Amino acid sequence: MSTLKAVRGTRDLLPPETALWNRIETTARAVFARYNFGEIRTPVFEDTALFARGVGEETDIVSKEMYTWEDRARAQSEKTQTLTLRPENTAGVVRAYIEHQLGNTGDLQKLYYIGPQFRRERPQKGRYRQFSQIGAEVIGPPSAGSESPLRDAEVLEMLATLLDELGITGWTLHLNSVGSAADRARYNDALRAALVPVVGRMCVDCQRRAVTNPLRVLDCKVPEDQPIIDTLPMIADSLDEASQAHFAAVTAALDAAGVPYTRNHRLVRGLDYYTRTTFEFTHGGLGAQNALLGGGRYDGLSEMLGGPRAPGIGFAMGEDRLVLTLLAQESAAPQVVADAFIAPLGDAKNADALARMNAAALALARELRRAGLRIELGDGSFRLKKSFEAADKTARSIVILGEDELQSGILTVKTFSTGIQTKVPRTELAAFLSS
Ligand code: HAM
Repeated sequence: MSTLKAVRGTRDLLPPETALWNRIETTARAVFARYNFGEIRTPVFEDTALFARGVGEETDIVSKEMYTWEDRARAQSEKTQTLTLRPENTAGVVRAYIEHQLGNTGDLQKLYYIGPQFRRERPQKGRYRQFSQIGAEVIGPPSAGSESPLRDAEVLEMLATLLDELGITGWTLHLNSVGSAADRARYNDALRAALVPVVGRMCVDCQRRAVTNPLRVLDCKVPEDQPIIDTLPMIADSLDEASQAHFAAVTAALDAAGVPYTRNHRLVRGLDYYTRTTFEFTHGGLGAQNALLGGGRYDGLSEMLGGPRAPGIGFAMGEDRLVLTLLAQESAAPQVVADAFIAPLGDAKNADALARMNAAALALARELRRAGLRIELGDGSFRLKKSFEAADKTARSIVILGEDELQSGILTVKTFSTGIQTKVPRTELAAFLSS
């Protein structure tokens, strides 16, 4: 029988690497708490219409990459629905904001999420079909200040802090403004007109995009198309005064806070809901998939989903890419080492004695684990040599528990880093092993 494997583009995450995932999530939660964000958990699948309307029918995500299926009605009270595994979380958060009328509080909602997303992309290093995002959204009625450029700068400053606290060095913040809906419409017209005489010389994808969604031409990575793209108009030239002032206020606040950025005129992002500020943080160590995170402002998304006016800004970090970056920086995978390995010693030929020593070892392990120590438990059927070998691989020290130790309450501990063997009273063992 053929063996079953994880589906292409999906992966099992195993220890010790999962310790790094946990560390990243713990750090992110701690930083989000300091900026007064609360956690939101939305469903992993939603009505397909949410993404078609929110993310945009013409985007690669919606047109090619979604996992969508017909969910047949099981009862008369149910309808057959078209459902989709979420390719991103912003649309779901805004749906929840509308559904629970969070705008009625009159306050800004500051929400973060950590969880899996699904896109049927071509898998490669840093690009998977199931991947995890750590993201956050700031959304609320305009009266709560949700449109203020200070919100954009605060989110970007938080990201710079979070990356620093994760220990990720050498990132670049690419910043741009895609303007208001009206600015974008104007820019689309200018781009469409500028593409007419040149698009025949561009790749087939660009020829299609020139008709369906000209902004996407700026995302093209085909080397031969780059000199042509460089001659196209820039979105900065289509921004009205209000959009220009908004962007200038964002950059002034970043300058004041000392967050470095570079203006990237071609950063238009792959989702249709963006208005004004857009950004990505990239990292040189990631190769082709170099975006650690992306985000921006989406002032019209709530209305697009049938909700009230609720400007917002947010981002999502690719957790898989954070892990890759840290693994590359930290030269080796994190090692998780137990504080001690307990080795029960007994007469292997005497089943009763063996059972008694194993039971005593379990009791000792329980005592030490309850004191907060990380303990690996051996087996009395091991010979001493085998116990030492197993302990050396998994723990910082070995605790020998034989008949004598059990009677006297004095245990023998060997610390591997020093090679020193010490007799320690059982009552002092937890403190000794923690030191
Ligand atoms: P996005 O740029 O599509 O934006 O994704 C954000 C990040 O998720 C990317 O920068 C990347 O690190 C990671 N990512 C995306 N696709 C994959 C993949 N196939 N494999 C591994 N990592 C991936 C969004 O999703 C927006 N919802 C962000 C946002 C929030 N904008 C406003 N609020």
